[in-house]
Amino acid sequence: MTIRSYKGIVPKIADSAWVDVSAVVIGRCELAQDASIWPNATLRGDVNDIVIGARTNIQDGAVVHTTHESAVSKGSKCIVGQDVTIGHNVVLHGCIIEDECLIGMGAVVLDNAVVQTHVLVAANSLVPAGKVLESGYLYMGSPVKQARLLTEQEIAFFKYSAAHYVRLKQDYEAEELANTNNG
Ligand SMILES: CC(C)(COP(=O)(O)OP(=O)(O)OC[C@H]1O[C@@H](n2cnc3c(N)ncnc32)[C@H](O)[C@@H]1OP(=O)(O)O)[C@@H](O)C(=O)NCCC(=O)NCCS
Repeated sequence: MTIRSYKGIVPKIADSAWVDVSAVVIGRCELAQDASIWPNATLRGDVNDIVIGARTNIQDGAVVHTTHESAVSKGSKCIVGQDVTIGHNVVLHGCIIEDECLIGMGAVVLDNAVVQTHVLVAANSLVPAGKVLESGYLYMGSPVKQARLLTEQEIAFFKYSAAHYVRLKQDYEAEELANTNNG
């Protein structure tokens, strides 16, 4: 596992958050309780803040970065809420993802976009800079378009998926402990 400081700032990682051995978490990152970071994901908190909410999973190969602060701009932090699923190979750049969303595999979300609570972004979609995705909808395409309202079952799945990933990371923690104890 590579958790390292940048300019002396060390990532803040809650006790029950889990980071895979091959993931990289740098600098101005905060991981809340039961958050999980999966193989080869990168959270590069060098030029601005990255905040990951409770029970949120950042899956394999995802990249999370931000835009830097300057004399004329505060830049863009990347804030991900709680009970969010970030699929394999997603890119989140300086954007806000609110609670209980699913960002499908390979999607790209650009600076200052806001994905409101209870949104499903389809696999391989592009969310343009500054776009606001309205709560309760499926968005699809490159660039994304509002496709349809989500069903109750789809909305319920967001919390299920987050809870599933908490259980899965607990399996990995147990495996790591067993491997350590076995020398
Ligand atoms: C979009 C999605 C939710 C399916 O929604 P749906 O309303 O059930 O859509 P359907 O499967 O009925 O397909 C409807 C149309 O959208 C197209 N479509 C489906 N997924 C698409 C996507 N990701 N991007 C573009 N078009 C897509 C289908 O080909 C179909 O097109 P057609 O009408 O021309 O035949 C699903 O395909 C998806 O992307 N899920 C995300 C899965 C994921 O990444 N999970 C994370 C795991 S880590």
